[in-house]
Amino acid sequence: MSIPVIIDCDPGLDDAVALFMAFASDELDIKAVTVVAGNQTIDKTSKNARDLVAFAGGKCRVSVGASKPLLRELSTAEFVHGDTGLKNIVLPRADFDFSKEKPHEIIYEEALKNEGKIHIIALGPLTNIAAALLLHPDLKEKIGHITLMGGSCYLGNHTPAAEFNIFVDPEAAKIVFESGIDLTMVGLDVTNRAMVFEDEIEEFFNLGNRVSRTVGEILLSSLDFVREFGFEGVPMHDPFAMASVIEPDLMETKQYHVDVETRGVHTSGKTVVDVYNVRGLRPNASVGVDLSREGFVRLLKRLMKKYGE
Ligand code: RIB
Ligand code: CA
Repeated sequence: MSIPVIIDCDPGLDDAVALFMAFASDELDIKAVTVVAGNQTIDKTSKNARDLVAFAGGKCRVSVGASKPLLRELSTAEFVHGDTGLKNIVLPRADFDFSKEKPHEIIYEEALKNEGKIHIIALGPLTNIAAALLLHPDLKEKIGHITLMGGSCYLGNHTPAAEFNIFVDPEAAKIVFESGIDLTMVGLDVTNRAMVFEDEIEEFFNLGNRVSRTVGEILLSSLDFVREFGFEGVPMHDPFAMASVIEPDLMETKQYHVDVETRGVHTSGKTVVDVYNVRGLRPNASVGVDLSREGFVRLLKRLMKKYGE
């Protein structure tokens, strides 16, 4: 039985790979892709999402969401994803246009239709999800699960304290973590280790289809950049979050209470993960703490191979 999902994203090079995985997966029934500003401005992330869905042969609504965080100005990751949001990747323009429905409408509609089983996979700042929860007070009881790529137990990547997705919209993240919805937090503790090594990249070109070749190009174009930060391979943040939904056994989780810092001068956007339960609060998230990197790469290759079948 496939899982009804909505994918919220900010493509974004790694979002692109995660979308390719999703549309090749038999485990997911993709109801919609909703888009948020993050890696780039909403005009770019939404164009990228639409064209990526089309390139993957996807047939679902693509809905343009928030152009900025709930309260703050937008911070992008242009230095990572380039001016277009997909660096040097050029895709054919999709042969369909954006949905007329906004993300909060689609999320609420699908939550009702799927009788509490809808699974939201959030791969960018959580603005759209928080907005839907604010606009539909009964929504939190109607969402089955949220898997989000974001946060970390210990370190940041956009600041020393904060991971990018949470940093961009801490207020939205706080709303999501306090919602009471079943949450899985796929943070840097696991995604930094979900690396594809240089000697594994060639196989994506050898798979010989246009999607796997595009993944190979994304990986190659990211290598030099990530090495500046000391990574031996390309950390696949959003793809590993996607993999954790498709094949949950790839990730080990622990139940922790997670709060989000929204006021710190140096720590705004930090996920405050109570690893030792010193506050004695009930855990509100399953947090990724370990992974099978080899299993992840095996899944990624298996899914990319399907584009050539
Ligand atoms: O910190 C990594 C996250 O920020 C990923 O979702 C990446 O796409 C960026 O949005
Ligand atoms: Ca992302």
